[in-house]
Amino acid sequence: MNAQSKPLVNPQIAEKLRDWRRYFEAKLGFRDHWYAALLSTDIAEGEVQTTTLLGEQLLLRRIDGKVFAMKDQCLHRGVPLSRKVETYTKDTITCWYHGWTYRWSDGLLCDILTDPGSKMIGTRSNKVYPVQEAKGLVFVFLGDIDPPPLSTDLPPNFLDQDRAAYGIRRLVNSNWRLGAENGFDTTHIFIHKDSPYVTGMDAAVPLGFASAKTPNFKVFDDPQNPQGVIDHMHEHYRPVFDATIGGESVVKLKAATGKHATIHTVSLWMPGILSVENHPDYDIIQYEFYVPYDEDKHMYFQVLEKLDSPTENDEKAFSAVCKSLHEPLALRGFNDDDLWAREASQEFYQDDWGWIDEQLMEQDQNLFIWRRLASKSGRSLQTLEHVKGHP
Ligand code: FES
Ligand SMILES: [Fe+2]
Repeated sequence: MNAQSKPLVNPQIAEKLRDWRRYFEAKLGFRDHWYAALLSTDIAEGEVQTTTLLGEQLLLRRIDGKVFAMKDQCLHRGVPLSRKVETYTKDTITCWYHGWTYRWSDGLLCDILTDPGSKMIGTRSNKVYPVQEAKGLVFVFLGDIDPPPLSTDLPPNFLDQDRAAYGIRRLVNSNWRLGAENGFDTTHIFIHKDSPYVTGMDAAVPLGFASAKTPNFKVFDDPQNPQGVIDHMHEHYRPVFDATIGGESVVKLKAATGKHATIHTVSLWMPGILSVENHPDYDIIQYEFYVPYDEDKHMYFQVLEKLDSPTENDEKAFSAVCKSLHEPLALRGFNDDDLWAREASQEFYQDDWGWIDEQLMEQDQNLFIWRRLASKSGRSLQTLEHVKGHP
């Protein structure tokens, strides 16, 4: 092909990205959504904590019980305030460099310690973000619009009062989309076959789910409500317990028995939250938040919610069983496999070509449904301009 006849955009790529282009572009995630930023237990009264969300460094402080979030960047010369945290009053933070002082509630530049008569005082504000706490998580609305209710960026019923919650978090070296897709990918459970959870809980987790009957996906795309894809796996997939090569059995797992038979319904919600019902036990739902940290990392929050557990005693009892059983065996033992799988995928996708070069199979169709939905429902794209704080 000579230079003249070469198309401007490779037609294969254009075709492939036709209906999920914004997802492809959302390397830093979608802006104008609520994200889990910390566990409530990470931030005590008066404490200042840092984290990174969608590439933006943030500072958080708990004041009289309520958490506030501010961009970790001084307006004066752009240094991170967190480089040396200086807080002379409860309600303010002072930049260590030249003393510009900001109010946590609205970011207002309320004083300059080195030049108290400066005309700049009271005329500008650092960026602050709305914060809400629920179910042991601190949520930050990383965006610029009036925030919608927190519940619209969570799986349905996540905030229900009658559920006890227990959560952990850790940083994973892969893009957030590889986290979300690892969780939702039905045949990836092949990696869990040696997990101590499978033997420890006497749980029947198959090697994979072969397609059978017509797929049963439900897509929720009303912007006033949680937006997500539910995969009713048990209705259209056939669990595989005996894997063969050339007809010869090579790996065999115990078939499903008892009331905790197998994972049966998995769903993925905007802006990247997985819900796995009936796991790690029949009366527990596991939620996984794949929160964009930067282009190459995501903060992985795992939250277990136990149904019908409305009292404080229920909460305490659930926390005890999570610490002794579900955290070591499921959240870490079982899901640690997912962590190294995501990290092993990162190199292929890092320069964006993986999204073009991958060759997906029939059972990956739920990933396309998710990609299309995310492209459509992501409120806006996070860009490097947002990260740098360009006005
Ligand atoms: S850089 Fe922060 S006060 Fe100058
Ligand atoms: Fe997994």
